[in-house]
Amino acid sequence: MKSAVLSAATRRYPLFDAYPDLQDRLPREPFSADFAPVHELRHLPEANIWIKRDDRTSLIYGGTKVRKLELLLGEARALRKSKIVSMGAAGSHFLLSTAVFARELDLAFEAILCDQHMSDGVRRNVLTLFDQSTILRYGGSQLSAAAYFGSRLLQKRKEEHFLAPGGSSPLGTIGVVNAAFELKAQIAEGLLPPPAIIVCALGSGGTLAGLALGARMARLKSEVVGVRVYPGWVGPFPVVTRARVCRLMKATLHLLKQFCPSIPNFSMPVPRILDDYMGRGYAIPNGSGEVAKQLLADREGIELDSTYTAKTFAAVLDLQRDRSKTSDVLYWHTFAGEFAKGVQKLESHRKLPAALQFMF
Ligand SMILES: Cc1ncc(COP(=O)(O)O)c(C=O)c1O
Repeated sequence: MKSAVLSAATRRYPLFDAYPDLQDRLPREPFSADFAPVHELRHLPEANIWIKRDDRTSLIYGGTKVRKLELLLGEARALRKSKIVSMGAAGSHFLLSTAVFARELDLAFEAILCDQHMSDGVRRNVLTLFDQSTILRYGGSQLSAAAYFGSRLLQKRKEEHFLAPGGSSPLGTIGVVNAAFELKAQIAEGLLPPPAIIVCALGSGGTLAGLALGARMARLKSEVVGVRVYPGWVGPFPVVTRARVCRLMKATLHLLKQFCPSIPNFSMPVPRILDDYMGRGYAIPNGSGEVAKQLLADREGIELDSTYTAKTFAAVLDLQRDRSKTSDVLYWHTFAGEFAKGVQKLESHRKLPAALQFMF
């Protein structure tokens, strides 16, 4: 059963104000009560940096993925599915947030985990996934986990609903398109000036694709920039390349037009991607990210994670150092919050399936 907090969620959805026909056609389970706040970071050495607090998207668990899950789980519900299946890195916050919200909706959840750089934070996420009653499968390397996920998809059962890694399907991305309309409404309310640049992390691509498409649809003039924290290619396979982000933007607009044919065609911007902040690889902390993390904690009391947001915020600081101080940069804080922080006892891993014990 949905908890009392979520039952009260009636978040305004500005995409519906722009296109009222979507309201009855887009499957959505509201998970949050209001717009994610936006404010200026006034205590940094660099001026004119604003933050969009997507760490506060929901009252039980934050992050931009909540926006995707409102639609992805809304669709599962509308199709009367009873089980969600997805895959991701062992410490994936998308998997963790899917577990939390699927449980709220009484949906079972099976997660296929692949290897990633290990840390206590990752171990905590794995334990928390397990605590949320998730069925855990270990898939090995990213390629072998993807192959296993594909084979599971081929044998999909009637009651199962599969979600793309990171929730970055066209439907999930529509949730992020709405986020750009939310920002537009906050600008109209006078809460911030129109930013020259919006900066977000680039993981599986839905956040960048949704913000870039949404900014165009909402007629914001801001340039949307993605900071790569995940490799573009795995071996010979393209995973998160610029071309893939552009294809996701086109597919998302196409899906929106299927729900609401009166949505006009928009020329697609090609988002800028910054490749120099990932360091040695996905989830491996790097120097500039850790400095940015410390700075934001010391000056503003805001926490960043080493995998996504610290590297992204390092890029924000560099961008603002390079620019005239008069134009505003908006940092999109996709941070998922620390749902797993309560899990202190890593030794409780003994209850995990044997295949996952090696992580501890
Ligand atoms: C905290 C955080 N920020 C950013 C992202 C990246 O978003 P996307 O996968 O839509 O590119 C993720 C993805 O899991 C994340 O967990």
